[in-house]
Amino acid sequence: MRPPSPPLSVIVLAAGKGTRMKSQRPKVLQPLAGRPLLAHSLRAVRELEPRQTVVVVGHGANAVREALADAAVTWVLQSPQNGTGHAAAVGLAAVPDEGVTLLVTGDTPLIEAATLRALAERAGPQCFALLTCVLADATGYGRIVRNASGEVVKIVEHKDALAAHDAAALATNEINTGIMAAPTAWLRQALSRLTPHNAQGELYLTDVIAMAGVDGLAVVTAQPADAMEVSGVNDKAQLAALERAVQAREAQRLMRSGVTLADPARIDVRGTLECGSDVAIDVGCVFEGVVQLADGVTIGPNCVLRDCRVEAGAVVHAMSHLEGCVVGADARVGPFARLRPGAALGEEVHIGNFVEVKNATLGKGAKANHLAYLGDASVGERVNFGAGSITANYDGANKHRTVIESDVHVGSNCVLVAPVTLGAGATVGGGSTVTKDAPPGALTVARGKQVSIPNWKRPRKGG
Ligand code: UD1
Ligand code: MG
Repeated sequence: MRPPSPPLSVIVLAAGKGTRMKSQRPKVLQPLAGRPLLAHSLRAVRELEPRQTVVVVGHGANAVREALADAAVTWVLQSPQNGTGHAAAVGLAAVPDEGVTLLVTGDTPLIEAATLRALAERAGPQCFALLTCVLADATGYGRIVRNASGEVVKIVEHKDALAAHDAAALATNEINTGIMAAPTAWLRQALSRLTPHNAQGELYLTDVIAMAGVDGLAVVTAQPADAMEVSGVNDKAQLAALERAVQAREAQRLMRSGVTLADPARIDVRGTLECGSDVAIDVGCVFEGVVQLADGVTIGPNCVLRDCRVEAGAVVHAMSHLEGCVVGADARVGPFARLRPGAALGEEVHIGNFVEVKNATLGKGAKANHLAYLGDASVGERVNFGAGSITANYDGANKHRTVIESDVHVGSNCVLVAPVTLGAGATVGGGSTVTKDAPPGALTVARGKQVSIPNWKRPRKGG
């Protein structure tokens, strides 16, 4: 039987400014697949179920804490930000001596829990475990320097290798991922001995590796299954490269589960997309938040769907924008439709081009096929809502509801001034401004009467 692992604490370093991002937003809040970078690292850490997770924040600390308010972590402030070694020391102040501490950078979002776990398990009272990786292009990364017998001797930062003309270090393409695990008591002591004598005038966490060797700890290394896992995000180009990698991974997952993608390179999932069987998604679609597409749903090109559910067999045509809504089975939406929060379309509803629906329920088979607005409304089954018609739901101060009962036919260019009810089977003549309830079954017309003046002479210029 394996001896029980020592208690594990995790420190996530997330205080840096991210100068290379050239952004007001703290680096760890830059979005990747719709979520902050830090949320991705924390997802992997959470799976390890550590005794404690400490997140070191500094630059934009309040914004970071607010954006991740739900995370079950201990927040620690590093101010000023004197480098990764300083950040680790500040974080360690919140961690008890016994056991092992795993240090994770907040800017390596694709790291997998399995990789972290394997690394943490290799660290022990006399053993320092370092996650390294061999990259074709090691620009910007700290380089692993090994002795003749292959033991890790130290890490040299890229900038310092350049300043010292250290050709050997620069030629090495085994890099420091920034992720490491060490016995906590020793680490605390080692960090207290760091000095800022380097190109960046900071306390480098990486300098503890040389100390480990001197102090007689074994330095063992491990590698991730995939180099992408340890890609650091320091600028917008790296952020975009990782975004494509995440999206490619998601597209593969969808296709493996049977989803038809017109082009796996042209889909963006910024949240969770759940699909039933025989779902087809055309190019250029963006899915945000939690989106559920039931069996047989078809999504046309260039649609945006955020936090919504589309029931079986429904079709969303090109260029439609859906948010916070439900689309019923076999419904037809778009092209160019907008469904806003609270839109609930029943089965076989048709919403056509340039139609906006907000906070409104539509019963089975109801149709609004062109140029209409339905806001704060209850629309019954089989209602036909004409082109150019709207519910005037807002009086400038308050919102009011419009009730349209089953089988109502609303002609074109009508204004239904809420609160108002159109009774079942009512017909509203085109061009009506309806301010009072329309009785069921009747024709209601509320517009100027048509008159014709014979022999009408148009005015003439200069006449
Ligand atoms: C660091 C490593 C480098 C490694 C690379 C991997 C050091 C000195 N260098 O370089 O060897 O190859 O990561 O991606 O450790 N941070 C703080 N407080 C600070 C400074 C940084 O919390 O005072 C945090 C940052 O928010 C970031 C992480 O530490 O999440 C790494 O900092 P960053 O500036 O990106 O270091 P790199 O230059 O990438
Ligand atoms: Mg970095």
